[in-house]
Amino acid sequence: MSARKTAGELRSARWFASDDLRGFGHRSRLMQMGYDASDWAGKPLIGILSTWSDLNPCHAHFKHRVDDVKRGVLQAGGFPVEMPALALSENFMKPTTMLYRNLLAMETEEQIRAHPVDGVVLMGGCDKTTPGLIMGALSAGMPMIYLPAGPMLRGNYAGQQLGSGSDAWKYWDERRAGTISDKQWQGVEGGIARSYGHCMTMGTASTMTAIADAMGLTLTGVSSIPAPDANHIRMSAQSGRRVVEMVWEGLTPDQIVTPAAVRNAAIVAMATGCSTNAVIHLLAMARRAGVVLTLDDLDALGRTTPVLANIRPSGQTYLMEDFYYAGGLLALMAQIRDRLDLGAMTVSGETLGAALADAKVYNDDVIRPLSNPIYPEGSLAVLKGNLAPDGAVIKPVACDPRFHVHQGPALVFDSYPQMKAAVDNENLDITPDHVMVLRNAGPLGGPGMPEWGMLPMPKALLKQGHRDMLRLSDARMSGTSYGACVLHVVPEAHVGGPLALLRNGDIIRIDIPNRRLDMLVDDAELARRRAAWVKPADRFGRGYGWMYAAHVSQADKGCDFDYLLPEFGPAAGEPDI
Ligand code: FES
Ligand code: MG
Repeated sequence: MSARKTAGELRSARWFASDDLRGFGHRSRLMQMGYDASDWAGKPLIGILSTWSDLNPCHAHFKHRVDDVKRGVLQAGGFPVEMPALALSENFMKPTTMLYRNLLAMETEEQIRAHPVDGVVLMGGCDKTTPGLIMGALSAGMPMIYLPAGPMLRGNYAGQQLGSGSDAWKYWDERRAGTISDKQWQGVEGGIARSYGHCMTMGTASTMTAIADAMGLTLTGVSSIPAPDANHIRMSAQSGRRVVEMVWEGLTPDQIVTPAAVRNAAIVAMATGCSTNAVIHLLAMARRAGVVLTLDDLDALGRTTPVLANIRPSGQTYLMEDFYYAGGLLALMAQIRDRLDLGAMTVSGETLGAALADAKVYNDDVIRPLSNPIYPEGSLAVLKGNLAPDGAVIKPVACDPRFHVHQGPALVFDSYPQMKAAVDNENLDITPDHVMVLRNAGPLGGPGMPEWGMLPMPKALLKQGHRDMLRLSDARMSGTSYGACVLHVVPEAHVGGPLALLRNGDIIRIDIPNRRLDMLVDDAELARRRAAWVKPADRFGRGYGWMYAAHVSQADKGCDFDYLLPEFGPAAGEPDI
């Protein structure tokens, strides 16, 4: 850590301390808002990047939490300012928030760089907000704390606990199979999301905030606090107090997000039974920090890390509220402390090891010991073969084990509407051994790699009592999804990956223990098909989408834009003011 900063060394002093025309302009405009020198002079300016919006129910409480962060900043002698950022509502944005994750990352980076900011509190939680805010802030490089939104309360209907996403899919299949009434379905609709906060299964939101936490970017362990809990309010104020200190200490993210911290985060993610989306975001976040992380690294950790969090959808019973009461992420990390680099620094100013010193498990059915894991391994597996030369991802723990080694004929769909019409056809000619395939749903084809990868079970099979089958796509799936779904096939079909050459009836073979994914079609035939392949039309002719398509990487590289990577070129220096 560098020597403690003096007030004159604050970045914001460049805006506010100089006795010249520029300084006059900046100060007079603060005074326009009713501030005077006692608000800003010699104080770190803390930008609070809040991803609140009326269309993001997961962040509804941020409107008030901003005030709690401000209270903390003021207590510690800082100058808090709110800076709203793109809310990335998983619920309402089409075609998918993933199309816009990098837009939030760019907005975050440029907001920090362009404004008189000394440090930031990043407020997010709904799926893509966590990686988006962190990627941008890593590139900006200023002291930062991540403030996780916290999970919503457990869902409830008719005495049943309901889990975000997972129970929606489950009851939707039952409704399509005709086993529940309209009234029951409406009851689920009204009970599944009953407080602010992000999804409370171990979906993408809970996985990504756990990753931010394990990486050292939140006050340690706070990612598990439920959004409506008073501890969440106190944590918000504490984050505000702490970031002011971080500015004086010069504790920048490059001292926190080291190779050790990234590895810690990946191990913790595996032990939570993480969302498959974590793969893409972890790769992207690591690369922003200049840390080398590959799909193969993640596969190796997936093979050796037991799943200890008994949280749905990988676990059977519990939800994030139960996880918090059982000791939360601190307790989970304490169970695997021998596998973590305890010397990793955190925003708290102490090492991960120090933060775990008093951690305890209060319910060892929710947070299992290493001697009694939910699964000995298998959060994630990376498959390769002639169908996915650069990799594909599956979550073995979330699928019926009979599909771990399987082969069957492909039933291929080129678009979501085509697939949807087929799965709703009760007379569809399909067997439980078939492999349903959706292509043109990757980063460029989707566009934005939508969460279509848990292809709906065909009605024809649901009525026969089947609830799982092998499915395959270049899409992602929601972290709250489950089933034998092979995802993120790279290269995607839209750019001419081998998936584009697959035809109905081709035999697909999956072998998870050996990490293989192949189509049993010989090379000469594939060459003939490639010669006849016609590239689909571009999805965007202008605007952000056009820029996205020109610069986005494939899923095995994290779907970031090439020009945002540190190796692309030097960052802009400080503004000449
Ligand atoms: Fe916001 Fe699930 S919809 S976290
Ligand atoms: Mg989600």
